Amino acid sequence: MALLSDPVTRRRFNVIGTQLVGAAVAAMLGVPIIGYLLSPLFHRREPVERFVADVGGLPLLEPTKYVVSFPREGWTVPEENAAVYVVRFQDHYRVLSNVCSHMQCPVRWEVALHQFLCPCHGGLYTIEGANAGGPPPKPLPEYVHRIENGRLYVTNRFTEDI
Ligand code: FES
Repeated sequence: MALLSDPVTRRRFNVIGTQLVGAAVAAMLGVPIIGYLLSPLFHRREPVERFVADVGGLPLLEPTKYVVSFPREGWTVPEENAAVYVVRFQDHYRVLSNVCSHMQCPVRWEVALHQFLCPCHGGLYTIEGANAGGPPPKPLPEYVHRIENGRLYVTNRFTEDI
């Protein structure tokens, strides 16, 4: 018989056993890791609102920077800080992200230019976040917000996404 003429040696048994154990360990580790890495693609958290500041006394047309902590939608840290610029206009407010739409460098308000400037490649934005020069392809993202009794609350969603 073929089985008797090709006996499993101890060495071959050990190799096969090691391969089976290795495959089992790889599956036990790999499936959760792959699930963890892919989960943000399928799991979008509910919008979260954070208090930013009392904004009734903000000066007109002078962007003021605040830092807000939002739950992270990625893999590692549970919270991440986001810098926002709050701009008070005559009859409304805008809450702009400080993340450049070109390559995500942080922009800053330049008083002398009366524009937002991105230091990475010279991108410029108006006080309303519209493109004013340089390579950025889109305006500054604007956060969804609400004001209640002079208190500003911002949501971790952009107006262009709703
Ligand atoms: Fe802002 Fe390039 S990253 S202009």
